[in-house]
Amino acid sequence: MEKKISEKIRYVGVNDHTKVIFEGMWPLPFGVSYNSYLVVDEKVALIDTVEAGFEKEYLGNIRNEIGDRKIDYLVVNHMEPDHSSLIAAIREQYPDIRIITSAKAVPMIKGYHGLTDNIHAVKEGESISLGKSSLAFYMAPMVHWPETMVTYLEDEKTLFSGDAFGTFGAVDGGIRDSEAHLCGWLDKSENCFAEFKSEMTRYYSNIVGKYGQTVQAALKKLSGLQIGRICSTHGPVWENHVADVVSYYDRLSKYEAEKGVCIVYGSMYGNTAEAAKSLAAELAKRGVKYAIHNLCTENVSFAYRDLFKYDTLAVGAPTYNNDIFPPVYNFMYGVCARLVRNRKFFAFGSFTWAGASVRLLNEMATKQGFELVSDGICFPQAYSARKCDMAAVADMMAK
Ligand code: FEO
Repeated sequence: MEKKISEKIRYVGVNDHTKVIFEGMWPLPFGVSYNSYLVVDEKVALIDTVEAGFEKEYLGNIRNEIGDRKIDYLVVNHMEPDHSSLIAAIREQYPDIRIITSAKAVPMIKGYHGLTDNIHAVKEGESISLGKSSLAFYMAPMVHWPETMVTYLEDEKTLFSGDAFGTFGAVDGGIRDSEAHLCGWLDKSENCFAEFKSEMTRYYSNIVGKYGQTVQAALKKLSGLQIGRICSTHGPVWENHVADVVSYYDRLSKYEAEKGVCIVYGSMYGNTAEAAKSLAAELAKRGVKYAIHNLCTENVSFAYRDLFKYDTLAVGAPTYNNDIFPPVYNFMYGVCARLVRNRKFFAFGSFTWAGASVRLLNEMATKQGFELVSDGICFPQAYSARKCDMAAVADMMAK
């Protein structure tokens, strides 16, 4: 892979094709990249590190770029271990390296790595000189951890953004958005942003989703900077699509969504599944965009992606223990935890002797501020034996 982003900026990150589940929860069908960068001037700065297990490849990438030159600074924008695991390994290789980070990261570095010396906690807007160029630091708390900050290389109008504007998906071959492709994705596009958009949505919704308000605050702060390039910690380096990714983050963090229906259901004996498919069929007849997710057979990650994509959420759950069927309850818990708003909502589900799930789903949705499309459809026993009017529900959703 071409490592030179510019004369000064070199990519030294790695691609992970072996991890199956990220953060112990989220599938990685296309892998993931852990991005790290060198800024090479009279002094050398390393921006973030990578996940444990990649020491040999990572240190090799660094040496391939700067040989035996020393590294003066390690900038730690974010302490989540997919980027901070190798801080101690870097300090071992480069004993004089000065760690530059936020005040909130200092105790985390001690806690994770036992390091306390030669660490400088920067203040908002502070900068360090690398010679001809300098790096400036801006706090971005709760995007999506409290210690997060971003680093700005002014003379190249480059933002090292941490996880912000990142995406799932490994990036072998080329890291810049003019050449990057999502590994394993069959439908290669000329438009890198279009190719990664689905995995960016999944990354945002799964990991950052709760923090819309603080993402908005960070976007507002960064709007004062001229940004011509974004070097995130995951996914392509954005050069041609800076405006696309910034405006998409703006939309996602405002919980804005396109017209369409995200149908999410769980089913024990196929009756709630039949209702979900019936709704999907009625939406298809009307040309309404929809996605359908069975939580009994797929990871909830993809349902969260489409929750953030579409403006209407239809949730189906049988009644179980006089409550919501647990896989669906877990999903709804995550919807509420992500503070999702601006959604229309429809609940449906089967029961055998006492129906509770639809009422309880509606209660959760109402508490969340969602607008109910209808009172929902709660049906006893077999769906096929009931005259449930999904056509009328689809009509309301098509409006
Ligand atoms: Fe990619 Fe929040 O770590």
